[in-house]
Amino acid sequence: MNFNPDLCRNESEVESKLLVGYLLPKLGYSPDTWHQEVRFGKIRLDFLAFVQKIPFKLDAKSPLGLVIEAKHPRKNLDKHIYQIRNYLTSLNIRYGLLTNGKELRIYQQKAGEVHLVFQCAGKDIDDRLPDIIQLIGRDFLQQQLLSPANTPSPLSPPLQTSQVLASTPSPALSMKTIAIYHNKGGVGKTTVSTNLAAAFSHKGYRTLLIDLDSQANSTFATGLIKFQFEEDDHLKDRNIYHAIASSDTNFIPDLVRESSYFNTPEIDVIPAHINLIKYQDPLNKMMASRTRLLTKLKRVENNYDLVIIDTPPSRDIYAEAALITADYLIIPSDLKPFANQGLPTVKEFITTINESRETFGKQPLEVLGVLASKISTNARYLEHSFPKQRAVISERYEMSLLESVIYDRTALSACFNQTVIVGDIEYPNPQSIFKYAETNRNAAQISALEFEVLADEILSKIGLIK
Ligand SMILES: Nc1ncnc2c1ncn2[C@@H]1O[C@H](COP(=O)(O)OP(=O)(O)OP(=O)(O)O)[C@@H](O)[C@H]1O
Ligand SMILES: [Mg+2]
Repeated sequence: MNFNPDLCRNESEVESKLLVGYLLPKLGYSPDTWHQEVRFGKIRLDFLAFVQKIPFKLDAKSPLGLVIEAKHPRKNLDKHIYQIRNYLTSLNIRYGLLTNGKELRIYQQKAGEVHLVFQCAGKDIDDRLPDIIQLIGRDFLQQQLLSPANTPSPLSPPLQTSQVLASTPSPALSMKTIAIYHNKGGVGKTTVSTNLAAAFSHKGYRTLLIDLDSQANSTFATGLIKFQFEEDDHLKDRNIYHAIASSDTNFIPDLVRESSYFNTPEIDVIPAHINLIKYQDPLNKMMASRTRLLTKLKRVENNYDLVIIDTPPSRDIYAEAALITADYLIIPSDLKPFANQGLPTVKEFITTINESRETFGKQPLEVLGVLASKISTNARYLEHSFPKQRAVISERYEMSLLESVIYDRTALSACFNQTVIVGDIEYPNPQSIFKYAETNRNAAQISALEFEVLADEILSKIGLIK
């Protein structure tokens, strides 16, 4: 496949068509060796590629290989040299690639000095690929950086993993509610809801997770379903149904549970229950059942910064209540045909919900975008099919896509399926991806990082990162 610079009409096309779709695979970087929108304190890198695959560990001895900065094709690269210089020297990164699609430059940093070492026009990238690979191809860079002769420069800042992607909550927050919804089942709604709640909590935001799905998978995932016998079911009489069923009792603090083992710090959870199914008909008949959660959440708006609502894969009363309550919507999707074919129905649903919201003076639901989730890390798929699948969402379905991607990682199902044996009984003991990554490094840390990146993208979209 040849690269045609005319295909890149804006910065995001430079990122998707030149970098993700073409150059990173050609240079030998598989998806688990690069990250998009990586944040180090105040610095935000468009792309960071690692020479070491896993374990993902940043310290003075693990040099960072390559930072990539993409610009709009009309932007003059000369104006961004200072930016690359700053990244390379302050984070001790060896190479910086700066491109607007029309031109490509590579800068090298050694002992604090930054020099231009390669330059070519966008249309010549194909022909010059061997030179580019020799400089910043993953194998070549690995040899350069990981050879014993390569000692870290005295400038190396000792980076801790916890410093990566650090973001600080702004002082005066108003509570924001985000629903995670798609009418297609199994696309990762619960996985995203629970781990996103964990990511926000990690960043210091006071987070409440609400399970509005009778399957109660978020309730399970946060460790609230450990009982083995029906008589031990402590969720039956105090769950999200009770918030929706009454107006003057069962307020949020009465229903909240702490997910003590799932994540550190803990998050508050309002559980669901299988009984939600049988209460659906009576609730359906009452208009008020759609707005009670919203009203009750207003009473605790000083207690939480963020509320995440996990929803069922349907268009029932619970999904309605979720979308009426939320300020924002994220639509996880594996981008496969069935999930896509559900999108027009999601859009119609949003239109209907917005009509109801208007009647009581609530702003329309703000769709943050479709979130590519459970995405295969197969390099050929990512090179050929994934960019096309992403394009379909905006071109055919006219919906925006979040930049972040949640890849298909076995660690994400493994953390959900953790158990503990007490006596001779095995109890579920699920963990967030962050907790799981503390003891299972490797791919789990990469997945945790992907959730941090997603959390940062959302925080910046909803104005919670300064
Ligand atoms: N990114 C991922 N990587 C690996 N496995 C995943 C990922 N996302 C989800 N899964 C797995 O796929 C299955 C379905 O995921 P999940 O329950 O999150 O989907 P859902 O949209 O909430 O489903 P439902 O519509 O039934 O509520 C689960 O077994 C989960 O562990
Ligand atoms: Mg679910």
